[in-house]
Amino acid sequence: MPPELLVVSNSAEQTRACAAALAEQCRAGDLVILTGDLGAGKTAFCQGFGAALGVPGPITSPTFTLHQRHEGRLVMHHLDVYRIEQLDETIELGLSELLESGGVTLIEWGDKIRLALPARYLELSMELGERDDDRRIRVTCVGDGWQDRMAAFTESLALRGVTSC
Ligand SMILES: Nc1ncnc2c1ncn2[C@@H]1O[C@H](COP(=O)(O)OP(=O)(O)O)[C@@H](O)[C@H]1O
Ligand SMILES: [Mg+2]
Repeated sequence: MPPELLVVSNSAEQTRACAAALAEQCRAGDLVILTGDLGAGKTAFCQGFGAALGVPGPITSPTFTLHQRHEGRLVMHHLDVYRIEQLDETIELGLSELLESGGVTLIEWGDKIRLALPARYLELSMELGERDDDRRIRVTCVGDGWQDRMAAFTESLALRGVTSC
């Protein structure tokens, strides 16, 4: 299984279904970063992920708080580091403590703090497609720890009617 996968989404619902398929594969300590321009669907993905974990209440973009903690089947840490300009600002995020605290962590704009990230994580790079609601989600396994879950993820996507290749 190659360490990369392309997911095709034609609607916000499909992006949420993709997130639900990923949530199924996630466990405590996992890190997922979401990259892509404003409006690409990073927050929509996190909303689908939270819903799949059974997080009660709304999941909004934590741009001004940097970090929101939600509780569902797993604890979900939702970060948005758009406003971070210098790497030393990441210290206040306490990223390694978060990752060790027994939840799953999702970071919007995670590529902005790539040098502060651990050796293994999953990267979802979201791009706009041809039509308004089209998105391409490029899934890349960074380091080991994800490759062995990609087949199950792909299967779960197919069960939800989401195309990947
Ligand atoms: N295929 C799609 N995937 C995700 N969002 C989509 C899609 N099609 C339309 N949208 C809409 O695009 C917007 C994405 O916004 P948002 O998730 O806040 O983006 P970001 O967090 O990347 O800035 C939402 O209004 C969402 O409903
Ligand atoms: Mg966002």
